[in-house]
Amino acid sequence: MTSRRSVLAVPGSNPRMIEKAKGLAAKAAARANIVTALNAGGWNGQIRVVRVNDWSTEHTYADVITVVEGAGSELDAILLPKVTDAGQVRALDLLLTQLEKANGLPVGRIGIEPQIENALGLRNIDAIATASPRVQTLVFGPADFMASITMRTLVVGEQPEGYEPGDAYHRIYMTILLAARAHGLQAIDGPYLAVRDLDGFRRNAARTAALGFDGKWVLHPDQITACNEIFSPRQADYDRAEEILDAYAFHTSTAGGARGAVMLGDEMIDEASAKMAQVIADKG
Ligand code: GLV
Ligand code: MG
Repeated sequence: MTSRRSVLAVPGSNPRMIEKAKGLAAKAAARANIVTALNAGGWNGQIRVVRVNDWSTEHTYADVITVVEGAGSELDAILLPKVTDAGQVRALDLLLTQLEKANGLPVGRIGIEPQIENALGLRNIDAIATASPRVQTLVFGPADFMASITMRTLVVGEQPEGYEPGDAYHRIYMTILLAARAHGLQAIDGPYLAVRDLDGFRRNAARTAALGFDGKWVLHPDQITACNEIFSPRQADYDRAEEILDAYAFHTSTAGGARGAVMLGDEMIDEASAKMAQVIADKG
């Protein structure tokens, strides 16, 4: 299992990241910064993902070519924003395949993370998820998505006034989560923009973590600790999960009586309980 609890987004255009990029044109500087940062190494086993511009712009092809030609071996995945249909994922897959071949990189290693940020993308989510074996995750883009469906709020992640009680995002979250699980992908929640409001971040992250999402974007280092904690099982739950797995393994074995369902304390456990426990144990 690959851990993607906290997905830190940093702008390639941030001049503090790499002094050398100062003075270059913004777009080219961003690409050069990213290539330099990837090649400089010093990463601690993180998954290194570059978000390129979406296919509705004129920048996507050059973003991909520059980054893969410059640092393809140091790159784990390309995040493709505002995906509308499977064709956009296939187009990126083809471009990546050519780049990998031309640059002596193993073909198919660089993953694709489609970001679901509009109504059309959500309607086409199954086709997007299965458009290429490179697809590793489905990522929510709440800000663009809310704009796309004209949700009446300016605060990302908070409920639109007038809708309470209820969760205006529930259907969107579940659609992304179900598609991810149906196709063996990770489900990643998007950013919470009020970076100084850690309580708000926690509230927001807790909802998708509870549903079963694998992780969430973070925009500020302060959000990382909270995010890793929220998307990890609590120690007590992890311990309980291991206990259920041990008990289930024993009681279903010949030595344990080869039983299908047994009592563990006050609770009956069976194959489904063991599966639920395995989810917590794996994430732990
Ligand atoms: C992120 O890209 C978002 O639109 O929320
Ligand atoms: Mg967006």
